[in-house]
Amino acid sequence: MSELTVLYQEVRTCQKCILSEGRTNAVPGEGPEDAEIMFIGEGPGFHEDRQGRPFVGAAGKYLEELLAKIDLTREEVYITNVVKCRPPGNRDPEAEEIEACRPYLDRQIELIRPRLIVTLGRFSMQRYFPGASISRIHGQPKRVGNVIYYPMFHPAAALHQPRWRSLVEEDILKIPELIAKLDEIEEAEPDIPQAEQLSLF
Ligand code: URA
Ligand code: SF4
Repeated sequence: MSELTVLYQEVRTCQKCILSEGRTNAVPGEGPEDAEIMFIGEGPGFHEDRQGRPFVGAAGKYLEELLAKIDLTREEVYITNVVKCRPPGNRDPEAEEIEACRPYLDRQIELIRPRLIVTLGRFSMQRYFPGASISRIHGQPKRVGNVIYYPMFHPAAALHQPRWRSLVEEDILKIPELIAKLDEIEEAEPDIPQAEQLSLF
């Protein structure tokens, strides 16, 4: 059994925060163990909680449409959330719930080692861009070592806000360039320190 599978089992029985009380199923995340791209959303909604899988409701369908625009399928990327259990009534996750759940996401990133981390919505953005405003920084990549962090609007929000919808669609179209950039970086500077932050474009 892989370390990631062990982690999934831990998440499924986790009781480290109050969200464990209302869940039907915890939703650890899914995708290839060596995925190059990781998408991080907010938390499971109704359908995700029922099925134990991330992004399977309306937002998920829209995410799949966005991926199709850049010739990707959901099976090719890793998809997870900042909290693994559904907040009651889809309320925002509380800071202490995000904190309790953080080690699982940390571990997923350590094991998968994605090159591009796409944050969907405010809560995952805060992990990498603390204090930032999503309307200001969406679509602007930040490179740290040989990883790129890329903030986007949440697909559920974009679905309901026509103005954000066109922005999210513009932002997704930049992903192939970012991947190409990563390949260039790797060729030019294979030993770049992970922690050093460098400007990108
Ligand atoms: N919204 C999220 O943020 N995550 C999901 O898994 C589904 C909807
Ligand atoms: Fe555990 Fe995270 Fe679920 Fe809270 S949200 S119970 S920390 S898995």
